[in-house]
Amino acid sequence: MLTKKQVQVLDFIKSYRAKHGYAPSLEEIRQKFKLASASTSHYYISKLQDAGFLNKEHNQPRAVSTVEAKQTVEIPILGAIAAGQPIEAIEIPDETITITRDEIGKQGKHYALRVQGSSMIDEGIFDGDIVVIRKQEIAENGQTVVAVIDDNQATLKKLYRENGKFRLQPANPTLFPIYRGEVEVRGVVVKIIRNLESQLDQGQSRDEKYVRKIDYSWDYRGEKTKSHTHGIHTYPAMFIPQVGRRLLETYSKEGDTICDIFCGSGSALVESRLIGRNAYGIDLNPLAIFLAKAKTTPINPQKLTKEYLALLDRVEKIKDSEIKRPDFKNVDFWFKDKVIVKLAKLKKAIREIKEESIQNFLMVAFSETVRYSSNTKTGEFKLVRIKSDKLEKHDPDVISIFRKHAEKNIAGMTEFYKDAKKDSWTKIIYGDSSKDNGIKANSIDCIITSPPYGDSRTTVAYGQFSRLSAQWIDVFDNPNDASGVDNDLLGGRATKNLTHVLPSDYLKESLEKIAKQDEARARDVLSFYTGLNDCLKQAHTILKAKKYFCLVVGNRLVKQVRIPTDFIIAELAEKIGFTCEDIIVRNIPGKRMPIKNSPTNIVGALEETMNKESIVVLRKN
Ligand SMILES: C[S@@+](CC[C@H](N)C(=O)[O-])C[C@H]1O[C@@H](n2cnc3c(N)ncnc32)[C@H](O)[C@@H]1O
Repeated sequence: MLTKKQVQVLDFIKSYRAKHGYAPSLEEIRQKFKLASASTSHYYISKLQDAGFLNKEHNQPRAVSTVEAKQTVEIPILGAIAAGQPIEAIEIPDETITITRDEIGKQGKHYALRVQGSSMIDEGIFDGDIVVIRKQEIAENGQTVVAVIDDNQATLKKLYRENGKFRLQPANPTLFPIYRGEVEVRGVVVKIIRNLESQLDQGQSRDEKYVRKIDYSWDYRGEKTKSHTHGIHTYPAMFIPQVGRRLLETYSKEGDTICDIFCGSGSALVESRLIGRNAYGIDLNPLAIFLAKAKTTPINPQKLTKEYLALLDRVEKIKDSEIKRPDFKNVDFWFKDKVIVKLAKLKKAIREIKEESIQNFLMVAFSETVRYSSNTKTGEFKLVRIKSDKLEKHDPDVISIFRKHAEKNIAGMTEFYKDAKKDSWTKIIYGDSSKDNGIKANSIDCIITSPPYGDSRTTVAYGQFSRLSAQWIDVFDNPNDASGVDNDLLGGRATKNLTHVLPSDYLKESLEKIAKQDEARARDVLSFYTGLNDCLKQAHTILKAKKYFCLVVGNRLVKQVRIPTDFIIAELAEKIGFTCEDIIVRNIPGKRMPIKNSPTNIVGALEETMNKESIVVLRKN
């Protein structure tokens, strides 16, 4: 795999040769890339030679020549993998790496994961590395595997079979092995790619105007993130409550009115309510709106429990002839008949609850039940059907799943009801944040938000994640409209061409590099930033002067081009009337890292995309 910088150096050598008939000197390469010394130029040349992109025999100044590319293959990076404590396995492909075919062999399908943690250091696998995995379900003793254990937790370990059990052995003498009766193997490691790129990446913008400050105090590694109503439903790329709270406490005060313009499932809104801020939330995904409302509406836990128990009694008595089967496209593809009947009974019993807030709250547990009892792989945000051999055995117990979620949720609501500030309010708006949503100009004291990482098609598909639940719980008048959500979200419709007037040099540069490889992808990217720029303008309108706007963003990789969303936002925002006061970089140890970096959330991207994110702090002038 070539790093971004290596690709740039290779491109430079190629174009220089084409123009002059000979290669650039080490000094010219140094000057072009502002490298510290000519030996760093030499380092790049040797890397390109080792990877087979430059001829080896001519190792003299100006004598390097490019070779015809070997057969290469593009491999999706599906997310992050824990080399340490297992993390939830969710796949969100949003990046790829290109490597030569002979590095991985001709057989099999491959994917890549970013490594988090240090449990495999004795095998030469370090935090931040990328491992290439050959997909297979069986491994030999001692092979390093992607193992999924317990409730969809993925980890990278050496696998041994012993006394009818499996031992997952870390390659780090300070750590203990994990023993399990059952382990699902998702592939074996065939290649390790050391991540040197990050060490060479610049922490500041070229003109030194913006500086990324790494601050480990924002990591909140190992802290509980599911208190109160935060854990009542999964949603991609949720805020860590601690981050939301700290931003709120730093940039607003009690009694203020805040807004989350991409509120998703409402994490920042829950925190606002707990610390006495009034809050608006805006989102364009109807399921997100439904969840955010349920999470921020306090309900007396005694009343809730009483209704829940009555519901369990009722559901048992509903006859098959009394139910209404859902009528949306492909329902039989995504659900077994038996499951449809049980879900329909449960839904009928929930709909009989008179008090709307209680009905909605229990519908949230129902929505999770829909996901877990469907024929989809729950470890993915995209809709992927369980393989047919496994599907035969798939026999979800709908009522038990519902009870598990409902009871956990009631415990969360008990905590929220006790701690929520009674005189604060939350208003949730279904709307497009790039447009006017009726919030008065200059009325908001602080905006805290995390935008999507990119368009839904190639990063996190919020709409696809939400579709089956949304269709069952009737958030659309016509359930078949649920499949259109992703097109409406930021970047959902590619621009017609690459002409634009967005005032960001970083964006222009990224678009040019991506367009050279894939114009359609560049148009997706442009569409996303065009929408985001409109959202920044709306945010500027509703915010009071001198007040703060904090955005938690990931710098995603498209076609191996790292897009510095943090710097791009800073550049765009300054033209709109903000000043960028800070860019804080945090690690995201607990975010739903898949076996990823994506977007909004499979536990998926390495480096800055998924296991690092930037908090851009803007202030209205
Ligand atoms: C990173 S998620 C926010 C997650 C949220 N912080 C949470 O804790 O659940 C980004 C959200 O932006 C929403 N979104 C995308 N485009 C939008 C638009 N144009 N207007 C409003 N919301 C949008 C998506 O539906 C998604 O819920």
